[in-house]
Amino acid sequence: MIFKAFVVASLACASFAAPATDSADAPRCNVSSAIIETVGSTLPAPEYTPSFVGLGVGTQNYTCAASGTYTNVGALAEIFDISCLYGQPGFDDLTSVISLLWNAAPPVVTPSEIIAFGEKYDLSFVLGEHYFVVNPVTGSGLNPKWDFTSHAFAGNPDAYVVGSKVDDVPAVTGASDIDWLYLKNLTGSLANEIYRIETRGGQPPASCTPGSNNITVKYTSLYWFTGGEF
Ligand SMILES: *[C@@H]1O[C@H](CO)[C@@H](O)[C@H](O)[C@H]1NC(C)=O
Ligand SMILES: *[C@@H]1O[C@H](CO)[C@@H](O)[C@H](O)[C@H]1NC(C)=O
Ligand SMILES: *[C@@H]1O[C@H](CO)[C@@H](O)[C@H](O)[C@H]1NC(C)=O
Ligand SMILES: *[C@@H]1O[C@H](CO)[C@@H](O)[C@H](O)[C@H]1NC(C)=O
Repeated sequence: MIFKAFVVASLACASFAAPATDSADAPRCNVSSAIIETVGSTLPAPEYTPSFVGLGVGTQNYTCAASGTYTNVGALAEIFDISCLYGQPGFDDLTSVISLLWNAAPPVVTPSEIIAFGEKYDLSFVLGEHYFVVNPVTGSGLNPKWDFTSHAFAGNPDAYVVGSKVDDVPAVTGASDIDWLYLKNLTGSLANEIYRIETRGGQPPASCTPGSNNITVKYTSLYWFTGGEF
């Protein structure tokens, strides 16, 4: 029931004012003159024009370090196309509203299930997925990847970007929201820059018992992508 409400709300949001198009037409609305709103943070201004804006819904994953604090070990999120909502009333509240629904969903609703839902129904407002991969350049450590090869640009193997973090600042909205980030492309031709802003949730508890299980913490965020070849 709640999951259905969540999906319907996402669908209503993402398809608002959007013409029905096939999934190859991404983004559904042109955001090239959009302003990436980072006021209140020290994140740098973009060097390229915006190409995509996505709503990320997923989890941040943590493991308990020997020091008794959580360390981030990746994330998994579905990225919804919200380009047609840019400039509309409510755009600024999207991550808050969806965060309320996401947090209210029962534990059986996982990011994998949301992704599977997108696969099953071939939702044209899904851009793709966000997850972590071994650094493709150095072969060690994990880097974030945004992968649009199974949705927005299905069949195009270059429609992804692996990012390398340049800047990381506390969320303007407070300590319970994960940091705002600015990344540049490491590999892939989807984008030259990636912003994670307007985050909600995703922060782990302040302490943990070493040896305890890994945890996942729900979050939502805006992801802006600039430049790229798509
Ligand atoms: C988006 O709008 C810009 C500015 O009007 C234009 O240069 C660009 O070609 C448009 N992109 C697409 C994919 O239509
Ligand atoms: C993160 O957690 C999700 C469950 O929410 C899981 O499916 C995914 O594999 C995890 N990824 C990493 C890198 O730990
Ligand atoms: C990022 O993409 C640009 C092309 O748009 C390329 O010149 C640059 O080398 C790429 N950066 C990295 C780290 O690969
Ligand atoms: C927790 O995550 C780390 C990093 O992904 C992994 O190496 C470790 O095996 C996981 N621990 C448990 C208890 O699942």
